[in-house]
Amino acid sequence: MNRTPVIVVHGGAWKIPEEEHGPHVEGCQRAAAAGWEVLRAGGSALDAVETAVRLLEDDPTFDAGRGSCLNAIGEVELDAIIMDGQTLRLGAVAAVRRIRNPVTLARLIMEKGPHNFLVDSGAEEFARQHGMGLIPSEELVVERERARWEAWRAGEGLYAAELFNSTGTVGAVALDREGHLAAATSTGGKPGKWPGRVGDSPLVGCGAYADDRSAAASATGDGEALMRILATGAVCARVGAGKSPQEAAEEVLALLAERTGGYGGLIVLDPRGRYGIAHTTPHMAWAVVTPDGTCRAGIRVR
Ligand code: GLY
Repeated sequence: MNRTPVIVVHGGAWKIPEEEHGPHVEGCQRAAAAGWEVLRAGGSALDAVETAVRLLEDDPTFDAGRGSCLNAIGEVELDAIIMDGQTLRLGAVAAVRRIRNPVTLARLIMEKGPHNFLVDSGAEEFARQHGMGLIPSEELVVERERARWEAWRAGEGLYAAELFNSTGTVGAVALDREGHLAAATSTGGKPGKWPGRVGDSPLVGCGAYADDRSAAASATGDGEALMRILATGAVCARVGAGKSPQEAAEEVLALLAERTGGYGGLIVLDPRGRYGIAHTTPHMAWAVVTPDGTCRAGIRVR
């Protein structure tokens, strides 16, 4: 099969402050362009989504890797998943504190380990034993998030007052020349979360799913709600049953609102290269590179 590659990325669905729109668009654009370059050169969809998500993790704009929000005790805890649509293999990691690129650890777990999903110190020990350097957790903390946390702790209600308080979880879906799909998602979770809290992002069928026979999808938004409807599994199943990616994404977000009252955003890509982007939050940051190599990016507004 010789497909023309496509990649779609997101940089979170929430109420993105006006002054952060520019960096969100630029970060998504850079990530999508880098992922597309991998695909253009004949690389796999897995390589493309890992490349794109690594860039988003390294960009302090987003709630993933460096720049992630802080939990209730002022620490970073990171979750990520990667999934291969050809084999249905996946790797996932949760609550790690000393990993610069959790998506790459998720891929290492998928390719080198006997298990799919490792958490906390076990995941970090797996990383260490497989030659991935551990970093001091403080290197992942940026001043913006420290200040937000201080304000939250001082009872200023910065997060509690906001419905769309999740910051920018990131994700990517890609289709390669061989016709294979992949998906990846990475996050610092919710600000002020309970230590040890795991959201939807690293859970298969919730934060991401990929199956060459249906679609690849990545989710962002209210993790407690998204996991209750298996958001990305539900959207891929709908595409497999004949819905377009856009229709399927909108239907699943409507279901999310109806059944849980929750909010979120989805990117979806099918094996024909058709994609959908939908959200029920005020904003969603996104970028796409279509078969002719055109990169488009923006902040969708509702
Ligand atoms: N969707 C990201 C989280 O809730 O952790």
